[in-house]
Amino acid sequence: PSPEPVGETIVDWYAGAARDLPWRAPGTDPWAVLVSEVMLQQTPVARVEPVWREWVRRWPTPASLAAESPAEVIRAWGKLGYPRRALRLREAAIAVTERHDGRVPADVAELEALPGVGTYTARAVSCFGHGRRQPVVDTNVRRVVARLVHGRAEAAPARATDLTDIAALAPDDDARAVRFSVAVMELGALVCVAGAPRCPACPVRDRCAWRLAGSPAHEGPPRRV
Ligand code: ADE
Repeated sequence: PSPEPVGETIVDWYAGAARDLPWRAPGTDPWAVLVSEVMLQQTPVARVEPVWREWVRRWPTPASLAAESPAEVIRAWGKLGYPRRALRLREAAIAVTERHDGRVPADVAELEALPGVGTYTARAVSCFGHGRRQPVVDTNVRRVVARLVHGRAEAAPARATDLTDIAALAPDDDARAVRFSVAVMELGALVCVAGAPRCPACPVRDRCAWRLAGSPAHEGPPRRV
């Protein structure tokens, strides 16, 4: 019997192992997802959680944030760091209000046109916020692909082929493909971590190219002989 595809196994693992993060609750508004992803760009989950809750309570819609003063938005950013992100988020809220009738778009190109929204954030909002089937690639995902598919110890620098690599692993079913996008990020965040991965806890360890190659050490910079 052929084994279940790795993408399906990773989705099954996620059902039992995922962290219960508030922006992952079913029905979370795409605007709240956008706020979470901008905050998570450079700040750990534990510090983001309370600030995110405060933001989505105070500014539940893009129009409400768009009407706020830049000074107040900076103040409410608190200690998340890189406070320019707060101003960019406000500018994105203004753009959504003016160009998209106050609704965060689902289309990746329209999302990428918003201030402070790069390709990762655009895909994350389309997928996690709108439920669209979408490859989503961050450092955690690139590390999982590096090991599982390419047999390398650590993530390679971002490349155009990252999206096709991860799309090839996604389940056929659209709803499961959406869950796969967050599941593979979670696998990289909790199990397939940088440095010393927790392979005994990995649901796909028996099909990992890196482990099958004997878990070779990371290749350092080229050395002269
Ligand atoms: N879930 C969805 N996006 C996430 C992120 N960037 N970090 C942690 N959990 C997430």
